[in-house]
Amino acid sequence: MSWSAAAHGAKAGTTIMLSRTQVGIVGAGPAGLMLGQLLHLRGIDSVILENRSQEYVIERVRAGVLEQATVDLMREVGVGGRLAREGLRHDGVYLAFGGARHRIDMAELTGGRGITIYGQNEVVRDLIDARQASGRPLHFEVEDVSVHDFTSGTPTIRYRLNGVACELTCDVIAGCDGFHGITRPAIPADRLRIFERAYPFGWLGILAEAAPSSDELVYSLHERGFALFSMRSPQVTRLYLQCAPDEDIGAWSDDRIWSELDARLATNDGWRPNHGRIFQKGVTGMRSFVAEPMRCGRLFLAGDAAHIVPPTGAKGLNLAMADVYRLAVALEDFYRSGNEARLDAYSERALARTWRAQRFSWWMTSMLHRADGDNPFDFRRQRAELEYLVGSRAAMTSLAESYTGAAFDA
Ligand code: FAD
Ligand code: DHB
Repeated sequence: MSWSAAAHGAKAGTTIMLSRTQVGIVGAGPAGLMLGQLLHLRGIDSVILENRSQEYVIERVRAGVLEQATVDLMREVGVGGRLAREGLRHDGVYLAFGGARHRIDMAELTGGRGITIYGQNEVVRDLIDARQASGRPLHFEVEDVSVHDFTSGTPTIRYRLNGVACELTCDVIAGCDGFHGITRPAIPADRLRIFERAYPFGWLGILAEAAPSSDELVYSLHERGFALFSMRSPQVTRLYLQCAPDEDIGAWSDDRIWSELDARLATNDGWRPNHGRIFQKGVTGMRSFVAEPMRCGRLFLAGDAAHIVPPTGAKGLNLAMADVYRLAVALEDFYRSGNEARLDAYSERALARTWRAQRFSWWMTSMLHRADGDNPFDFRRQRAELEYLVGSRAAMTSLAESYTGAAFDA
């Protein structure tokens, strides 16, 4: 009998379903799902446990910018078909300030590197399809997930599935359960060092039924605050406005949103976003956060469970992918030859990439947002930084290198 059939057959409250796997994965976001697929292709067993429903996980609107390395990884693991057809490849990006847009030709500056626009929810949908086709376990709506004994050789995950208490014994647990998950808080406080900065602003994001009026993204610094023009498809525009971290979305009528976006984004050449029906709105807080190390015994943290970046650099999803690629290669070594060198190096090497992304995301955020305590000097300084940036090939190359991202390494 399969493990899940056994669990379904058990009577609520009367049985503890015991099962075993090699890698227990908590969370079915981009990190957990990609890790599951990488392990599957290496012949390593895993069970993925997710506390939300499949619909919720797929519908959740979040990031949209994929680095080349993320696109390549999607293709390598066999889920790149729809991405190749529907993803929008961009070779450049605009910075707007003082009424003008300035294009940074990322591909020319970096020897051909660019980004691809493809919604995180589409990435998640493709990975869920692949997981379900593999026949390996992926359970949604699990409850009361907790991790135990990860400083021993046999860590366990306890949870309830369809009312049945379950205990999964693993070789390794992967904490891919995001910033608000349970794996990082399960690590004793004296085993972790936390580095953190909260920002005094958030982003109000919308999706609109409107053809994108620019082929490439526009990041804008305006006296009224930051705004970002992005897209999801030839029919859908994605837009963001800097707002208060606790902004009441109810105070933003569609008309108010459009007039604020126009005020912050329109340039003197007559460019502005096309308007259309707004079909999704939300407010996101902004934070920089790193937990060190990204490991405690046999528990490995990956993605937002270990680190958060403010969205301005578009790094969050890509960092999560870089982590699980590294972790999968390390686990392959461990299972093939018992060699733990890569597992031992995982945290230090993942943190090196994380801190590069932290620096870039903090820099982009501070260059482009207006904080309450800022005075006219700060605004002029930000303008001067942007003027320097778009006038210096060296500075533009630096931005393009970080924005398009380095190849993933193990
Ligand atoms: P997540 O996507 O958070 O996935 C974690 C999964 O674990 C979730 O499915 C969650 O339901 C599940 N989980 C949580 N707790 C448990 C539990 N106890 N048991 C089982 N499962 C659990 N990045 C950008 O680059 N640009 C953006 O515009 C952008 N917008 C964002 C908006 C929001 C509201 C948020 C929260 C993040 C945003 N990000 C953005 C960041 C980006 O989406 C993340 O970096 C990315 O989702 C990280 O993937 P992950 O798999 O590590 O974590
Ligand atoms: C998008 C999100 C980002 O955080 C970003 O920097 C650029 C684009 C987006 O959702 O399209």
